[in-house]
Amino acid sequence: MNVFGVDIGGSGIKGAPVDLERGDLAEPRHKVLTPHPAAPDGVADCVAEVVNHFGWSGPIGVTFPGVVTGSTIRTAANVDKSWIGVDAAALIGERLGGQRVTVLNDADAAGVAEVKFGAGRDRKGLVAVLTFGTGIGSALFTDGKLVPNTELGHLELHGHEAEKRASTKAKDDKELSWEEWAHRVQKYLAHLEMLFSPELFVIGGGVSRKADKFVPLLKGIRAEIVPAQLQNNAGIVGAAMTAAAAGQV
Ligand code: BGC
Repeated sequence: MNVFGVDIGGSGIKGAPVDLERGDLAEPRHKVLTPHPAAPDGVADCVAEVVNHFGWSGPIGVTFPGVVTGSTIRTAANVDKSWIGVDAAALIGERLGGQRVTVLNDADAAGVAEVKFGAGRDRKGLVAVLTFGTGIGSALFTDGKLVPNTELGHLELHGHEAEKRASTKAKDDKELSWEEWAHRVQKYLAHLEMLFSPELFVIGGGVSRKADKFVPLLKGIRAEIVPAQLQNNAGIVGAAMTAAAAGQV
């Protein structure tokens, strides 16, 4: 069975039909650039463009880089603040001629996919999936069950918001070496470990492709640290899985 997944990111909006049995894209994904400002109308148009590229009609799951309760956006750290209070499922569904849409946090979606099909598969205890990109996203699972909207990228660390210091955007903006950046990530993981004692950290986001450059530099963390396996498709796959679980199919 295929369900459509869309991942709204700070730089791109990408989507594809997802094969739910395999936990992988059924067709190569289509990507459009995120408009700036990343405000509701422009972003909803882009989501519709991605979905219509495939001539898709049927269930759709969409990720959003902020807190989502029900289908209402509650925070918008790295997209336009006019999203706050918007019913994203209603807005996007209307753009798509009334199709049913399920919306969830982007890191939660990536985590759902990693825990079912990727690096967190069959793991007991607490699993923390972290996505490093424009911000830092977090998804916590206890025995495979998601605790949504944890927002651990906004924890304060040495007087700074963690994602301002340790996201890949911070690495790029400040031209940090892998060693310098890994040092910041290590401090962040140590803080999370002190709070939550996870068994496993799954490191996601585009940077997971370069795990060999920084994971070996992360020292002194008790939990196992592994790169995400679905890499940049995890959000798309998790969005589609969540739409299916929401009873759309
Ligand atoms: C947002 C989170 C999101 C993360 C990754 C953070 O700034 O607050 O909701 O998951 O960025 O996009």
